[in-house]
Amino acid sequence: MQNAAILEGAVRDRYTEGARIAKPNLCCPTSYDPRLLEALPKEIIERDYGCGDPSRYVRSGDVVLDLGSGTGKMCYMASQLVGPSGHVIGVDVNDDMLALARKYRNPMAIAFGTRPVDFIKCRIQDLKTDLEQVEKFIASNPITNRDSMARYEDWLRQTPPAVTDGSVDLVISNCVLNLVGKDERQQLIREIHRVLKPGGRVAIADVVSDKEVPQNLQENPDLWADCISGAFQEQEFMRVFTDTGFTDLAFDKWTDEAWQVLEGIEFRSVTLTAVKPVTGPCIYGGKEVIYRGPFSRVHDDDKHEYLRGSRTSVCDKTYQSLLDGPMSQSFIFIGGSNKSTQTPACQPGGDCC
Ligand SMILES: C[S@@+](CC[C@H](N)C(=O)[O-])C[C@H]1O[C@@H](n2cnc3c(N)ncnc32)[C@H](O)[C@@H]1O
Repeated sequence: MQNAAILEGAVRDRYTEGARIAKPNLCCPTSYDPRLLEALPKEIIERDYGCGDPSRYVRSGDVVLDLGSGTGKMCYMASQLVGPSGHVIGVDVNDDMLALARKYRNPMAIAFGTRPVDFIKCRIQDLKTDLEQVEKFIASNPITNRDSMARYEDWLRQTPPAVTDGSVDLVISNCVLNLVGKDERQQLIREIHRVLKPGGRVAIADVVSDKEVPQNLQENPDLWADCISGAFQEQEFMRVFTDTGFTDLAFDKWTDEAWQVLEGIEFRSVTLTAVKPVTGPCIYGGKEVIYRGPFSRVHDDDKHEYLRGSRTSVCDKTYQSLLDGPMSQSFIFIGGSNKSTQTPACQPGGDCC
């Protein structure tokens, strides 16, 4: 296996160059809502290295975290959508990208009438460690022996996480997860889960492959840095999220035409959406849903069954999650009634999660 440090170095070099000079062919071309780009500086729009548009999932008032924010394009788009009551945080590991994104922090906040976007230097697989704080600490407390190492470790333990647990409504990312080394991907998804509020959402645009990418392609630093050979295999992409406890997963956007075909493997851009479920007891408030069809029955991730055309009694938590989820158009919602029901899916006092 190619040394992870070599791949990380290739990614750093590629995006340092991409911050300094616009590279129109780097990553998979995509389009955005032109109204959200109107106020954005040309040098930011020109350095677009995304492959989808997760801004479509941003709601007013959201706290949004953009993983691998690059020049800040997605953050400044999201900032207009969250409005003055929301907040946007961008995370990137590349100094040149961060410098370019931060250059417009205040002008954009004034233009949109919103709180300035915060840009933090972190590796997205470790959203606890603010690397600029680490660099500052080490500059004034050089690590030269075991004692200074222990002091550093103490400081790190006592430092609050760069992104707090349960603080984010929506995690977005545009063509970045594929750049994280395979060994650190589980930790990456766990970090996304950690920072989200219960009920928080995920909208990740990324490149996936239809088949497993062979080792020889994975070991090619150029293909890796170009967002190709680190692509998640499409099923694996969903599996890592379900294994970490996410529900309501969907490939909300799927590009029919492959962006690249290499050694018979198709690489395409998709947008995956998911939810961090709300845990806790089922409180039964007499709410019901009717599954509209067309299938005879469907199941959710909590194993509730919904029969086409039948009233199904659900707890308040399930009702809300269906209402907020990607299947909401497939249900009729009957709130707060105390009528008897035909097919209870949640039991009063039960626990769905
Ligand atoms: C393909 S570009 C996408 C940039 C941006 N999302 C966009 O839409 O233009 C990848 C970005 O992710 C950053 N990046 C790559 N690996 C990272 C990691 N492990 N942690 C944080 N940022 C990372 C790069 O520095 C670069 O800015």
